[in-house]
Amino acid sequence: MSTWANLGLQDSASPLMEQLIFFHDHALLILVMITVLVGYLMFMLFYNNYINRFLLHGQLIEMIWTILPAIILLFIALPSLRLLYFLDEINEPSVTLKSIGHQWYWSYEYSDFNNIEFDSYMVPTNELATDGFRLLDVDNRIVLPMNSQIRILVTAADVIHSWTVPALGVKVDGTPGRLNQTNFFINRPGLFYGQCSEICGANHSFMPIVIESVPVNYFIKWISNNMNS
Ligand code: CUA
Repeated sequence: MSTWANLGLQDSASPLMEQLIFFHDHALLILVMITVLVGYLMFMLFYNNYINRFLLHGQLIEMIWTILPAIILLFIALPSLRLLYFLDEINEPSVTLKSIGHQWYWSYEYSDFNNIEFDSYMVPTNELATDGFRLLDVDNRIVLPMNSQIRILVTAADVIHSWTVPALGVKVDGTPGRLNQTNFFINRPGLFYGQCSEICGANHSFMPIVIESVPVNYFIKWISNNMNS
């Protein structure tokens, strides 16, 4: 999760988020180069003494400053498309989790495992444990196996919500009457926090997401415990 003074992206916990960070840095580098160049040119205009009353057009320079930005845009567009298709790829998932947005909580279904289902509410501040995170912890966490391909199906029961976990690079809208799909791979154990990112009403800020990423044998144990009850 994000802590104090972390104004940038969170550390990635999935290969897709790693790629998203690489792309962000790449785009930012191009942005800085353009800003420096244009800033330099604008600053130098203050000291420009060359004036030509009869200069109305320059075919060559206009060709250059039209085509050059188009080529630069290609260097952003092509990696962006590559990433777009990576994010859409479903790599034979071993677990499918269905998450349903409600006003204002998430509910989850493990459809592969005897349809385990539960609601996940934010823990109110006055009931928070001493080591709990305010506005971020929930009463029932999602448990998922690490190092496995996971498919997530997102929908909503009332208005549009958005299932968003920054460390995993996942952000999918839950829309009533639709079933959206995405896919991720968690490459380390730990807790990963997220929040709803679609303005869904008065308590929009109070429907966080917590994923507990565990080794596969722990996940199997958790699943079998919950299937018996
Ligand atoms: Cu649900 Cu915002």
